[in-house]
Amino acid sequence: MKVTLSILRYDPEKDIKPVRKDYTIEAEPTDRILDCLDKVKWQHDGSLAYRRSCSHGICGSDAMMINGKNQLACQILVQDFKKKYIKIDPLPGLPIIKDLIVDMTGFFQKYDIVKPYLISKDLPPPKERLQSQEERALIDEAVNCILCGACTASCPSLWTNENYIGPAALLKAYRFIYDSRDGADNERLDIIDTQDGLWRCHTIFNCVEVCPKEINITWHLSQLKKKCALREF
Ligand code: SF4
Ligand code: FES
Repeated sequence: MKVTLSILRYDPEKDIKPVRKDYTIEAEPTDRILDCLDKVKWQHDGSLAYRRSCSHGICGSDAMMINGKNQLACQILVQDFKKKYIKIDPLPGLPIIKDLIVDMTGFFQKYDIVKPYLISKDLPPPKERLQSQEERALIDEAVNCILCGACTASCPSLWTNENYIGPAALLKAYRFIYDSRDGADNERLDIIDTQDGLWRCHTIFNCVEVCPKEINITWHLSQLKKKCALREF
């Protein structure tokens, strides 16, 4: 079948403003949008720029806006759309480097703020740090984040306040605060218990709608809010 991808093209070094260009290709219903982008690049216009790596929903590098929703191009099929005119845009709210490639520097700087690594106050055990099944269950969903940025780029609170840490970084804070092996929960709560941190989340749920790993990010943030509210100083 014929499929038309309407792609936002922009090279800040050459173009005055972004322009939409349509490319019609032959595709199978089971082709992924990433396959379609590959066909555009390989058969029509080699200058098209986009990120990709694993092609299997693991690396998180091909998050983009597909027909108005942030999604992974490698997880969405042609047959998912009735109309075979599909609009492709870069993730919103982030500076465009070229075409569908956005600058994730700010995203990862905010991720770094929450100290996204295990901080244990105990001496290392002879073997691994053990965890019960119940303790692991508390972080089961949160560990599935692949840092694609789809949630953060879909958040209206961030569009109106670039200082907001954003859902992905806050979810990472949850992942370590609720990890039984970690000992820096107060340190991290101090970092996120601020107006531009946790309290900038207005439970809009856009993040939950777009997360390709189906993580209920807003629920995790609500657990952090409860923890902050009940904290004794
Ligand atoms: S929480 Fe979901 S949408 Fe957000 S960065 Fe992680 S995987 Fe992507
Ligand atoms: S290319 Fe890795 S998640 Fe899509």
